[in-house]
Amino acid sequence: MSFKPVSLAIIFTIAFLTGAPTKAEVSQEAELDLALRLAVLLQSARAVIGAEQALINDPAIGDKGLTGKEVLARATKAFVEKTGAPPLSDGMDAREADLISALMASITEVMDANAASINREGIAFKGFVPAVFGRLVNETFLSKAGDRAEIKVTAPMSLVRNRKSRPDAWEDQVITEYLLSPEWQKGAVYSSLTETGDREAFRVMVPEYYTEGCLACHGSPAGEVDVTGYPKEGGALGDLGGVISITLYP
Ligand code: HEC
Repeated sequence: MSFKPVSLAIIFTIAFLTGAPTKAEVSQEAELDLALRLAVLLQSARAVIGAEQALINDPAIGDKGLTGKEVLARATKAFVEKTGAPPLSDGMDAREADLISALMASITEVMDANAASINREGIAFKGFVPAVFGRLVNETFLSKAGDRAEIKVTAPMSLVRNRKSRPDAWEDQVITEYLLSPEWQKGAVYSSLTETGDREAFRVMVPEYYTEGCLACHGSPAGEVDVTGYPKEGGALGDLGGVISITLYP
């Protein structure tokens, strides 16, 4: 993953803050910042799992040392490199600290829950790819903090592999009308104060584009079965491959 949602968010924020910011705009800016911090933490953890695919799939090695603690430590380090600040710090807003902590705990729990399978000798491909890890982390986060926030990785409808990751009506509309539009500035984040169910929600969509490493599974020829057993989507370098969708309930 080689994009920088935080700097893009700054561009985006400047674009919508024309003139003196109103109170609503200032609070939306804080919500956007929190959502992007959650997205960067998820991306950082997923990148650790991506970088360790060869190790995870090595049938000759038992204990791979990829404990929850280890993965979280490496994700935290990458988070600091990307944002210039640690995910948690003293004096941080309590709600933000709570949500970041819930995501950190979810990362640790998913690694520890899958340790037996990751450390199994004699089996090569284990299906523990970054997307699966990310989905499990988001499901765990939902069980911890779902009344306050939700994180989901979705994709344009035609690309979705796992039904659980299908975009909802709002996500589908944002993807087709904005993120896939030729006029959409590549990498720009979409956010909006809206409603889900009958609750007010601040929703953020962080686009992710295919890089070279994604195409072994999501590339060409379309229909050819990849190592995970799914047919490839025929995606090309730079295509919109997915979206991190974050919902914050104020
Ligand atoms: C080793 C094969 C493989 C590689 C490489 C890979 N993916 Fe996937 N991807 C999968 C599988 C398998 C799923 C379904 C995961 C699940 O069960 O939730 C998936 C799911 C996804 C999803 C969630 C939506 C859905 O279709 O269920 C997105 C978004 C995604 N991949 C994007 C990417 C991007 C971007 C890259 C490169 C950074 C990438 N993938 C690299 C195999 C791969």
